[in-house]
Amino acid sequence: MPSLNEIRTHFLDHFKRNDHEVVASAPLVPQNDPTLLFVNAGMVPFKNYFTGAETAPWPRATSSQKCVRAGGKHNDLDNVGYTARHHTFFEMLGNFSFGDYFKDGAIEQAWALIRDFGLSKDRLLVTVYHTDDEAASLWKKIAGFSDDRIIRIATADNFWSMGDTGPCGPCSEIFIDQGPELAGGPPGSPDEDGDRFLEFWNLVFMQFERFADGTERPLPKPQIDTGMGLERITAILQGVHSNYDTDLFRTLIAGSVEATGVKAEGEAAPSHRVIADHLRATSFLIADGVTPSNEGRGYVLRRIMRRAMRHAHLLGAEEPLMHRLAPTLVAEMGDAYPELRRAEDAIVDTLRQEEVRFRTTLGRGMALLDQATAGLTDGGVLPGETAFQLYDTYGFPLDLTQDAVRARGVTVDLEGFDAAMTRQREMAREAWKGSGQATAAAEWFAIRDRLGPTVFVGYDETEATGELLTLVVDGQEADRVGSGGRAQALFDRTPFYAESGGQAGDRGEIEWTGGRARVLDVQKQAGDLHVHDIEVVEGELAPGARVRLAVDAERRASTRANHSATHLLHSALRNVLGRHVTQKGQMVDGERIRFDFSHGQPVTPEEIDRIEAEVNAVVRQNLAADTREMAPEAAMEAGAMALFGEKYGDSVRVLTLGRALSGEGNYSVELCGGTHVARTGDIALFKIVSEQGVAAGVRRIEALTGEAARRWLLEQAAVAKGLADQFKVPVVEVTGRVEALQAQARKLEKDLAEAKRQLAMGGGGAGAASGPEDIGGVQVIARVMDGVGGKDLRPIAEEFKKQLPDGVIALIGTADGKAAATVAITGAAQSRFNAAELAKAAVLAMGGQGAGGRPDFAQGGAPDGSRAADGLAAVKAALTG
Ligand code: ALA
Repeated sequence: MPSLNEIRTHFLDHFKRNDHEVVASAPLVPQNDPTLLFVNAGMVPFKNYFTGAETAPWPRATSSQKCVRAGGKHNDLDNVGYTARHHTFFEMLGNFSFGDYFKDGAIEQAWALIRDFGLSKDRLLVTVYHTDDEAASLWKKIAGFSDDRIIRIATADNFWSMGDTGPCGPCSEIFIDQGPELAGGPPGSPDEDGDRFLEFWNLVFMQFERFADGTERPLPKPQIDTGMGLERITAILQGVHSNYDTDLFRTLIAGSVEATGVKAEGEAAPSHRVIADHLRATSFLIADGVTPSNEGRGYVLRRIMRRAMRHAHLLGAEEPLMHRLAPTLVAEMGDAYPELRRAEDAIVDTLRQEEVRFRTTLGRGMALLDQATAGLTDGGVLPGETAFQLYDTYGFPLDLTQDAVRARGVTVDLEGFDAAMTRQREMAREAWKGSGQATAAAEWFAIRDRLGPTVFVGYDETEATGELLTLVVDGQEADRVGSGGRAQALFDRTPFYAESGGQAGDRGEIEWTGGRARVLDVQKQAGDLHVHDIEVVEGELAPGARVRLAVDAERRASTRANHSATHLLHSALRNVLGRHVTQKGQMVDGERIRFDFSHGQPVTPEEIDRIEAEVNAVVRQNLAADTREMAPEAAMEAGAMALFGEKYGDSVRVLTLGRALSGEGNYSVELCGGTHVARTGDIALFKIVSEQGVAAGVRRIEALTGEAARRWLLEQAAVAKGLADQFKVPVVEVTGRVEALQAQARKLEKDLAEAKRQLAMGGGGAGAASGPEDIGGVQVIARVMDGVGGKDLRPIAEEFKKQLPDGVIALIGTADGKAAATVAITGAAQSRFNAAELAKAAVLAMGGQGAGGRPDFAQGGAPDGSRAADGLAAVKAALTG
């Protein structure tokens, strides 16, 4: 029994003997045809020879061409694994005539090979296009087929075209009857879709070229294009009814059976077939330079990979599986396709990375899907919104979801899916509008659409390797950044936490072969991109680089302690102050905790003490922190504190810390995406260092943990010790001493003020000698007061007003070398004099500019205190003048 490899060789040798050039398969990515996602037929690489755009270097050629049919709207992906013959990747054997032989030559050579293969004429029949009498008579003449074995078909089945445009023509297909034990009728009959009659070779009589406007023009010369699926002819020649029972697929499936320990029987059989088929497609695509991504060819690759990975998961594979199967494939097909051998490392690496990445969400996505379809029966429809959640949050390509529900006869609401996708994009963009970052944000969204979300591995690790996906320098994507340069860097995976939920972004270092950079900050963009703000220290960095990412582990550890302590603080505040306390904001980083919360009055020192005591008591419990992923609703039911107005995803992390200090239950249960301690004891010590109001009804507490708290307490102690040394008392007596000193200072200040007042009033009491004098018929109190500043003159003037119900009070004070004048007028004297004018006269006499006030009270200042007597004299002169 010939092997698949032997049959391929046999075919090529047959046409080589008939003067055909054996042409190596072209890469799967079409070289000169942007309209095609992948090469999907043997003639694609020769398209320009058929249309006459290029002259063929040989009149005849033969090839075994790698083909992928899994892109675009109508693809085979859904069926693969569940039928005997569908593949995403297959090899098409073909012979081609570029204006050399035509129908007769094609049929002659085909018939010769069929006889060579030993296929009995009794089992064969052919189709021709309904108008193609020539082909029908040639089959009769060359192969001796009777009329009933030549079936005329009027449909597109017998008119082959490469795509919407390009070469096309009527064709003739060769079928084998696999026997009455299989269901199905001959081509053209109502039950032609059954498995019994199998088409295995298509001879296309290429006569036209079709253009985008729908018109067809005859080709310069009629040509021949044929296609025979290698997997099909192998199945036929090996006497099996399924391509998956041929030697190559048996070997591949044996590999996945061995790796999973699950036999290829019953429900497990399709999964093994999917894995075998997709292993081929993905390996060949990677070998031809396609890498998994979220757009175009890369996304088709990702869809195929993930579909296989889901089936590996279905088989119960605990570890990534696909990359372990690649060496078997390379061994089987590496001779025919040396590119597979050359790319083996890349294939293994890419498969492993993608599977590691996808496994982080696969299990949770499957759980969500099970939940969503639990109530659905045959014919049920999965809401498009759920399919979109799976796509957006769990990385489930749409067809993976469709594949997953088909076993239950459930379909997906595609319109709902599209609507959810559109809505989400709009909402995400909307959310950024007006934030001042709109331009940058739109670009990040475009980048995210293209490159997919960043995988965060930092809950468990502070070091990881990743690939640099892109760089942004000054708002533009760049292809490199050199030493000393700053850039925003995006990796496929990272241990660096991006600022969110009130926890600061990580800092640290990255390293690659020949270079190193500092990570100064990490911010979130477009929802789930971790954008690393980097400064290159040495070397040059370019996208594609494999990079070692290392978080500053010490800073991360204290950030963890601070964040966990914040949760404990939140609970303590509610226990001590009351249930009205809710979080209004927080910021934790490697240095400190800042926590804002609703509360109507200052927190008293006694309350602060109780809060600190509670938190530290839970720290000392030293119980393991417990983090679980669950649906938000389940978390709320479990009593988790959630923040109002916060948007939570489909799955949330719920952190539980400590045991309740009195009664049953946990001390703190909160929804949180941040990084946290392993045990509460890791916090070591919790200390509140300030409490203040920040807005109406909102208080702010700042606090420290661990080493920072210890240092802070040490500094406080050092201050106390310094004071104690100065006062020469033990530390515990410092407060008493300070209080005594303050009381003493207050008393001295009071005594001093009284002494000044006495002095101003004339010393030793308001004696007669200091009473008012008569100047021009007006009662006047005029004084120079040394050591009394301007603002102290006013209360003194008020005193004098009580003693002088009708008259003028003029006071000149001197202090710090300057002078000040105050004039007050009482009673009937107010109708004769103006205080502002009198004060101004005094100020001018002392070298000043002027005075201000009301007609009955005015003040002014002057630079020269030594001229106080002049000022007073000027007032007196004005009273008499
Ligand atoms: N190009 C033809 C096909 O793909 C032979 O069927």
